[in-house]
Amino acid sequence: MARRTIGIALNGVTGRMGYRQHLVRSLLAIREQGGLPLRDGTRLWPEPVLVGRSETKLREIADRHGLTEWTTDLTAALARPDVEVYFDSQVTAQREKALRAAIDAGKHIYTEKPIAEDLATAVDLARLADAAGIKHGVVQDKLFLPGLRKLARLVEGGFFGRILSVRGEFGYWVFEGDWQAAQRPSWNYRAADGGGITVDMFPHWHYVLEQIFGTVKAVTAHVTTHIGRRWDEAGEGYDATADDAAYGIFEIEGGIVAQINSSWAVRVYRDELVEFQVDGTEGSAVAGLRNCRIQHRASTPKPVWNPDLPATEDFRAQWQVVPDNEEFDNGFKAQWELFLRHVVDDAPYTWDLWAGARGVQLAELGLRSAREGRRIEIPEL
Ligand SMILES: NC(=O)c1ccc[n+]([C@@H]2O[C@H](COP(=O)([O-])OP(=O)(O)OC[C@H]3O[C@@H](n4cnc5c(N)ncnc54)[C@H](O)[C@@H]3O)[C@@H](O)[C@H]2O)c1
Repeated sequence: MARRTIGIALNGVTGRMGYRQHLVRSLLAIREQGGLPLRDGTRLWPEPVLVGRSETKLREIADRHGLTEWTTDLTAALARPDVEVYFDSQVTAQREKALRAAIDAGKHIYTEKPIAEDLATAVDLARLADAAGIKHGVVQDKLFLPGLRKLARLVEGGFFGRILSVRGEFGYWVFEGDWQAAQRPSWNYRAADGGGITVDMFPHWHYVLEQIFGTVKAVTAHVTTHIGRRWDEAGEGYDATADDAAYGIFEIEGGIVAQINSSWAVRVYRDELVEFQVDGTEGSAVAGLRNCRIQHRASTPKPVWNPDLPATEDFRAQWQVVPDNEEFDNGFKAQWELFLRHVVDDAPYTWDLWAGARGVQLAELGLRSAREGRRIEIPEL
């Protein structure tokens, strides 16, 4: 079978997301399945060129996976004619410079979110990419998770009737790092290094809300730093200057109200690390990363408020599991496949830098809402 190779410069591949989700679970997984079948039957074969700051780490990753191409010189990687796509999963603060260089070099761009630290830069990058005539995309992995796919299916199938509200709960306890090591990188907790839960999570909530429910029209947020002192990877104490909890209200077209709590200072009493409850006139659903449960209008119980009596109903047992009915691949891999088909086969692809910029806009306006203590309407980009 004919094979077409596509060189992909992967910058930030020594990081959590770059290594596990993008290299191993996406590009190497595509190779393990024999490449990506294209429209004409050719198999597309991703050839990663690992880019990073540490020779030792890059060589070690390359050796572990039988790869030969790696460099600490981004300019050299971008000068290679066999490299057609530039992918960025560096820390957010380093992204802009690298994306600009890649666009200048005429490479197609695929990048982690947030695409930039502020809206002006995000819009500028999207404009530059359009002007250069390159293809561009942003990671919106949550849309490809089984739980949210099932939720989207319910919306598309009209299960809810008129959708009234969405309630999202995201978070878990991120250890401070003193008596137990933190399970997230320390830059996430320093504002000067591009950290903060609002810039991290609002871009996710933006595409989830926009793609499943509709345009986000206004935001009201309360943002705070609950844990002010943390310990980094080297065990050094530092002041946590970035927000670690964001309590947001998002108004969506059609009168839908979404409330999403995001926190790295909360302990989990839920089935999954993120869950969304959607209530509609005809039915309700609770969706997590994997699972989705529903309760139809016809099977809705009628609880009566009486604090004098113990609860007799097992409310959780009154919900029905939505079956998979299809196989769900890793969400990151599913999106990589769509992006690569967009690049090579010109297949449609909507998750571009403009979508990424709208996510940055929601984070920026959410922070402004919190700072100014008021509701903010979101202008169209
Ligand atoms: N889609 C998602 O679900 C998701 C989840 C987590 C993080 N992210 C995004 O992915 C990006 C990377 O996050 P991560 O959690 O993998 O971070 P990480 O700290 O594990 O990795 C960061 C990478 O950037 C590189 N880097 C380049 N310049 C750096 C510098 N000056 N300081 C520190 N590192 C530098 C590191 O070498 C490393 O490869 C962020 O933009 C983050 O917002 C996305």
